[in-house]
Amino acid sequence: MTDSKTWVRVAQVGDIDATVPFLVELNDRAIALYRVGDVVYATDDTCSHAEASLCEGAYRGYVVTCPRHGGQFDIRTGKAVKMPAISPIDVFPVRVEGNDVLLSPSDL
Ligand code: FES
Repeated sequence: MTDSKTWVRVAQVGDIDATVPFLVELNDRAIALYRVGDVVYATDDTCSHAEASLCEGAYRGYVVTCPRHGGQFDIRTGKAVKMPAISPIDVFPVRVEGNDVLLSPSDL
């Protein structure tokens, strides 16, 4: 099956710490990257509660904790899983080619 999307390299897999999200920007949008095992996930960097940067927080497994008020999100779905965060954050498809991590601007 042909993928007609354009993908842009935004990081190397090795750039992404296993506990601290890695901040990248694409199309003026701040995006947090996470690595759980061999799988890379991408979400909005901005918390839906009061606009803190999730990359200034930390994650464990599939849950990222906002540094400002401790709200938490599932990085696979963007769903808020702990108050005071209620609204979800956006999640984005990620492609990994070798060591390159790619995002598609059309998904932002
Ligand atoms: S700003 Fe993230 S939980 Fe309040």
